[in-house]
Amino acid sequence: MNDQLTIALSKGRIYKDTLPLLEAAGIEPLEDPSKSRKLILPTNQPNVRLLIVRATDAPTYVAHGAADIGVAGKDVLMEAPSHNLFELLDLEIAKCRLMVAGPEVEKPHGHRLKIATKYLKSAQAYYAQKGEQVDLIKLYGSMEIAPLIDLADRIVDLVDTGNTLKANGLVPMEHIADISSRLIVNQHAYKTKFDQINTIIQQFKTVIEKENA
Ligand code: ATP
Ligand code: PRP
Repeated sequence: MNDQLTIALSKGRIYKDTLPLLEAAGIEPLEDPSKSRKLILPTNQPNVRLLIVRATDAPTYVAHGAADIGVAGKDVLMEAPSHNLFELLDLEIAKCRLMVAGPEVEKPHGHRLKIATKYLKSAQAYYAQKGEQVDLIKLYGSMEIAPLIDLADRIVDLVDTGNTLKANGLVPMEHIADISSRLIVNQHAYKTKFDQINTIIQQFKTVIEKENA
């Protein structure tokens, strides 16, 4: 039986916040992705390795079985196709909110609202449910710039402390969804590596419950 377990993670906040969970499951990376250029990291467990991927790519690796399990933000999962993977656990890390934001004093405009976002699917669903017709403009980052230079009227983006909005003269306006990172599992791997994956889930759960008690 193949007992190799591959875990897809993005570096940065998800990696940092997932480390204590992995540690509780007895998994310790042998290299630090913030220092190493290596993208496949061995761990202290010879049969467990980490793939360091872009945050938005984690569901793709897991859905295709290139990774057995992974960690992805709910914001990313809401944009990605959900076939072939199970979202099994709210890890309660990398918490923030998906929001509409814009200038405190908005300029009058004679057109449909223009919304800049990298979250096209979520923004589309949000405005459809409000019955409001808007024009969506896809960006890949630094959304806060868009209303400042009249590319868009408002943005749909993640907000945590609100510091980025404030630094750019914007204010949070409407709450769309609470976001946290989730453990995602390839459906086939969940069957063939059930004991291994379920043990990790139970160990993660113990830490999450303790942290949030
Ligand atoms: P990519 O590299 O693919 O563009 P990214 O730069 O958005 O992704 P990160 O900034 O590491 O990747 O964010 C990873 C996840 O962390 C996001 O998908 C989201 O769920 C969460 N997140 C993003 N920004 C914040 C924030 N300011 N506070 C808390 N959590 C956040
Ligand atoms: C995220 C998000 C906002 C910021 C919000 O960006 O896109 O810009 O965090 O956090 P705050 O409310 O605490 O200021 P991130 O730091 O991930 O940068 P990036 O989008 O350029 O990767």
